[in-house]
Amino acid sequence: MTDLATPDDLILLNPGPACTSPGVRQALLRGDLCHREPEFAALLARLRTSITRCLGVPDTHETVLITGSGTAAMETAVIGSVRAGRKLLVVNNGVYGARLLAMAEAHGIETVVVQAPWTTPVDPVAIADRLRSDGRIDAVACVHHETTTGMLNPIAEIGAIVRDHEAVFLVDAISSTAIESPDLADVGADIICGTANKGLHGIPGVSFLLLSTAKGVDRVAAVPRRSVYLDPAAQLAAQRAGDIPFTPAVQTCYALDEAITEYENAGGYPARVRLYRERAAVVRAGFARLGLPVLIEEPYRANSVTALELPAGVAYPALHDELKRRGYVIYAGQGRLSRTHFRIATMGEIPLPRLVELEGALEESIRHLAKARGE
Ligand SMILES: Cc1ncc(COP(=O)(O)O)c(C=O)c1O
Repeated sequence: MTDLATPDDLILLNPGPACTSPGVRQALLRGDLCHREPEFAALLARLRTSITRCLGVPDTHETVLITGSGTAAMETAVIGSVRAGRKLLVVNNGVYGARLLAMAEAHGIETVVVQAPWTTPVDPVAIADRLRSDGRIDAVACVHHETTTGMLNPIAEIGAIVRDHEAVFLVDAISSTAIESPDLADVGADIICGTANKGLHGIPGVSFLLLSTAKGVDRVAAVPRRSVYLDPAAQLAAQRAGDIPFTPAVQTCYALDEAITEYENAGGYPARVRLYRERAAVVRAGFARLGLPVLIEEPYRANSVTALELPAGVAYPALHDELKRRGYVIYAGQGRLSRTHFRIATMGEIPLPRLVELEGALEESIRHLAKARGE
């Protein structure tokens, strides 16, 4: 199809960077600011408070802001969770669980892996068994929403198990914060990774850890220093004093500040979860009418990402290009799913009518590709 130009108002249906509001984009222009000035200290203090408040854990967790994408938060969490001579238990049922594992290995941290298929949430009993039988496990790491497939792991059940042990519970909530239930307050996680640019609708470039005051804060102080830049104890000490050791992404912090204001003005966590559920219902009703099978079964489906089987005879790049011409950027299947599946994410600022219209755009694209094949 060469007669349709790519529209200016593309809707990003990839799981971040997500579309942002005009207010968030405008916040990037608040002005130049040196991070050693009191105005930055005030912004940092405001963000450290507003992040825990808007995610429902203001009295139990403390924020460490990190300059870097979500992966920087993951790596800071991994190296900040395990004391010398102890082990990290990693749940591996997707690309991001595998990434946590690779990080531990890169830093010479001994690991215990609880593996599950990519389409199956981990069984919390397997984690309880490992914790009981191996006293050297110092932390349990699990991805909440495996963006690989759009599947949720049972973090509240795992949290209830880890709570009774000396181990800390590390949750990669990068693609679930502000989007999925359970409420973080009900999970009992000690080191939570989040990012600015998915459910919070900020700009990429900053991420954060939420450390529980019960266990997380003490744990990061008790581990050996494994990185100069991604050192959670040094970052926490500096940020408590209103400072950041290295040059922060000041403008991205402005944008996150505005994104959190907009999120709270719109009703905060309950309202955003409702919005994502509504979006999921709208797009999935369309997928069902088009006969596109969803990879993950209910009730394990995330609200924000749907992995779908590619229609027979349709290759992902061709479907991507057809949809882009119609105003939507879709996302490839990850890893071994790249030939058989594609993904639709509904993160960020997306007007609901554009999600209603997605079904028609998909139908037209699939029909056009069938015609091009001579069917
Ligand atoms: C669950 C999860 N963890 C970590 C990441 C990594 O985040 P980033 O790409 O911002 O480094 C992602 C990104 O999609 C993710 O979905």
